[in-house]
Amino acid sequence: MNYLIDSGNLEEIKYANEFFPIVGVTTNPTLVARENMDFRKLFTSIREIIGPDKMLHVQTTATKAEQIVEEAVALKKLLGDNFFIKIPISEEGLKATRKLKEQGIGVTMTAIFAPQQALIAAKAGADFVAPYVKRLDNISADGGVQTVADIVNLFNIYSLDYQVLAASFTTSYELHKVALTGAHNATISAKLLKAAITHSMTENAIAGFEKDWKSVYGDKTVLDFVK
Ligand code: E4P
Repeated sequence: MNYLIDSGNLEEIKYANEFFPIVGVTTNPTLVARENMDFRKLFTSIREIIGPDKMLHVQTTATKAEQIVEEAVALKKLLGDNFFIKIPISEEGLKATRKLKEQGIGVTMTAIFAPQQALIAAKAGADFVAPYVKRLDNISADGGVQTVADIVNLFNIYSLDYQVLAASFTTSYELHKVALTGAHNATISAKLLKAAITHSMTENAIAGFEKDWKSVYGDKTVLDFVK
């Protein structure tokens, strides 16, 4: 499973990009509005931070197919390759997806809460489908993870050319359960990236290694012996 950061915050994106093996950034209108920055400046800065090779998923705020396509074309021009327009699923969104597919622009169909939404999005040509795990779990136990598992299963049954981009997480446990479904990607906050690698046993182990080393070699490092 690949990891992306779900954020519009430049500091968080810099942090995730520097320390974690992320393959891209996803945003949505809520995350963008939280930053209250010039839209163009925000996304060109994100592109600058992650470079040209990582994916950048930007959500449309348009609701009519023609306008969604126009936005996607303009954003692709601004943000280059590895750009994906995020479109919430709707009739107009599906129409836009088919048109964008013809123009070679990547689409992430978002706000997916049911497997049939994902299958129809894939048939329309979406490259990624984004089911919202936490929001489903909030209303039914295990609903989010099970929905992702069903979507991955559909992908395998029909050998469809799309990827699951699981989104909306609260806990590392949810992330782990989603990874076990075979989902191709998960987009998570910087806080959850950090939580996923944090373990008190790891901290204890590192403290023990440091103490034992220092008791014999003091402040010397491995490099002091080998260079
Ligand atoms: C990503 O595609 C979604 O916009 C996002 O992950 C939703 O997350 P939330 O439920 O935390 O708002």
